[in-house]
Amino acid sequence: MPAIFFEGEELDCRPGESVLDALNRHGKEIPSGCRAGVCQACVLLTDEQQVAARHQQGLSAAQRDLNYFLSCQCQPTSAIHVRRPDSGANRVRGKLVNREWLSDQVVRLQLDADMDYRPGQYITLWKDSSTARSYSLASHQTQDKWLELHVKHIPGGAISPWLCNDLKCGDELTLQGPMGSCVYSHTQDRPLLLAAIGTGLAPVLGVLKDALVNGHHGPIYLLVGAARHSGFYYQGALLRLVEEFPQVELQFLVQTWEGKACPGLIEADIYQYCRERFSDLSGYGVYLCGAPTFVQKMRKQAFMAGAAMSDIATDAFLAFGETS
Ligand SMILES: Cc1cc2nc3c(=O)[nH]c(=O)nc-3n(C[C@H](O)[C@H](O)[C@H](O)COP(=O)(O)OP(=O)(O)OC[C@H]3O[C@@H](n4cnc5c(N)ncnc54)[C@H](O)[C@@H]3O)c2cc1C
Ligand code: FES
Repeated sequence: MPAIFFEGEELDCRPGESVLDALNRHGKEIPSGCRAGVCQACVLLTDEQQVAARHQQGLSAAQRDLNYFLSCQCQPTSAIHVRRPDSGANRVRGKLVNREWLSDQVVRLQLDADMDYRPGQYITLWKDSSTARSYSLASHQTQDKWLELHVKHIPGGAISPWLCNDLKCGDELTLQGPMGSCVYSHTQDRPLLLAAIGTGLAPVLGVLKDALVNGHHGPIYLLVGAARHSGFYYQGALLRLVEEFPQVELQFLVQTWEGKACPGLIEADIYQYCRERFSDLSGYGVYLCGAPTFVQKMRKQAFMAGAAMSDIATDAFLAFGETS
């Protein structure tokens, strides 16, 4: 059994167990969010450079140089020395300046924080020293004064009810990041397909804003899907946003029609619609955001339709403990 030397204390680690799980089992309070290598809440430091290098996906160059690693991803096979980093690493304090319900499920938060980011990236929000979750940035760093997040209220959840109901304007909170690479990265003439379900709209909106700010003039197809009408939010704002950009085609797709017409809304299964409407995606830049099952299925479908893997950017909203 490999040993973990945690700040000098020797602890056992079971075969196949991650450093995070082993430390938690021994009662060590190591924060975690996604447990899937995404939110970076669980970063630790090690002296073993080679071990660290295998578990540093998404960390900054400075963090990599300092041997930070994601403890939820590291299953040691030999003894490893680890310690907690300075808890301020990559974190800033922010303040809630505005909260608005966009539908009966989704809240828009606007935060005042000094953070350099690209629209479509995500940040991790800390409720306390051990509880954190990631949220995507819908705002544009040069167009919007505040950071904008769209949070779906999950009843009984550890963080979203706090963000949606309890946090008050003026309250301070800790933000970590930014992280992620689902950002506008294609030349201005390329056709783009942006597809989202649920609050996957937040990063897709960020990417769209950035494309338009950068003068993208190739066609942009924006698809927003939902199982039912209640799954949509921001429809009016999106319609207004795209009105002045003739290169953008916006389509809302609802799986179960409930008789509520809205401009741009049709009854369709988003997968089938894409198979038929976008049967040839060669040359496209593709951006897919939302629930992991949606992102995985659409990515496969886009690849089968001819999009290069390197042209497909995704943001899968893994829930706590879920793996991709
Ligand atoms: C990179 C990334 C970006 C993300 N961006 C966003 C974003 O922009 N907006 C956003 O709202 N969320 C986003 N998420 C999801 C977010 O991080 C949380 O997982 C979510 O808010 C639930 O957290 P919670 O603490 O309220 O619930 P938890 O305490 O984590 O979960 C409570 C229960 O609800 C279940 N659950 C979790 N999520 C859902 C869901 N969506 N639908 C139904 N059941 C669920 C869990 O499996 C669990 O059983 C993102 C996740 C990742 C990894
Ligand atoms: S990256 Fe390890 S818990 Fe999220």
